[in-house]
Amino acid sequence: MKMLIAGNWKMNCSLEDAKLLIADIINGIHVREGLRDRCEFLVCPSFIYMPTIRHAVLNHNLLSFGAQDCSDQDNGAFTGDISATMLKESGCQYVIVGHSERRGYHAESNALVKAKAQKVVNNAMCAIICVGETEQQRSNGEALATVLKQLEECVPEGADSKNIVIAYEPVWAIGTGKVATTADIDEIHTAIRQKLKEMLADGANIRILYGGSVKPDNAGDILNIPDVNGALIGGASLQAQSFLGIAEAAQ
Ligand code: PGA
Repeated sequence: MKMLIAGNWKMNCSLEDAKLLIADIINGIHVREGLRDRCEFLVCPSFIYMPTIRHAVLNHNLLSFGAQDCSDQDNGAFTGDISATMLKESGCQYVIVGHSERRGYHAESNALVKAKAQKVVNNAMCAIICVGETEQQRSNGEALATVLKQLEECVPEGADSKNIVIAYEPVWAIGTGKVATTADIDEIHTAIRQKLKEMLADGANIRILYGGSVKPDNAGDILNIPDVNGALIGGASLQAQSFLGIAEAAQ
């Protein structure tokens, strides 16, 4: 299974910066021979930059292309929302759902995350379903139970290794510079793998990403953990050097 190295650009970059960033990433992949044999690269820019980035990505065929969220509805009077069908039409292959910033700032429940993931799957794209505990839940000893409940309640009908990816992102590690220990990551990823095997026929093949302050200097240790199949990267995905440096650490 190839590592999935996924960049979540969040609400960052000017249009000019986004163009420069994607050009740098494309050049960087070109000059790093062999990286694509081990890694699949994905960028998820903000909705408004998607046509521009898609154009750059399609011209080179080196990267996959995704969105950071979608609606749980097909169409209609939902001001400001974007449907999975629209994203499919715009060339998306992946959609992140249930990111902790969506769960936190927009009060998204597991039921809503599942409904969004269902739309992604129904539209023949791959849902990157984010799970992860808060600092409070970890200090209460509830990390594992929280993550497994999110998994149970967010995985859509008809899920398989082609149409879902799980991203374990401890909320307290996102954008903070704090990283979970390799032992903690190993424990949670092993439990996620076990749960996926119980839930789905090809649960053994579903990619499980780690996310939360992944950088080139910690990526080697993290990506060497057996059930870590890639990374979901925020801050370090905003520079080609650090984004690709993470992929280089994946041996
Ligand atoms: P970070 O973000 O790499 O900046 O911690 C990760 C994420 O939110 O997916």
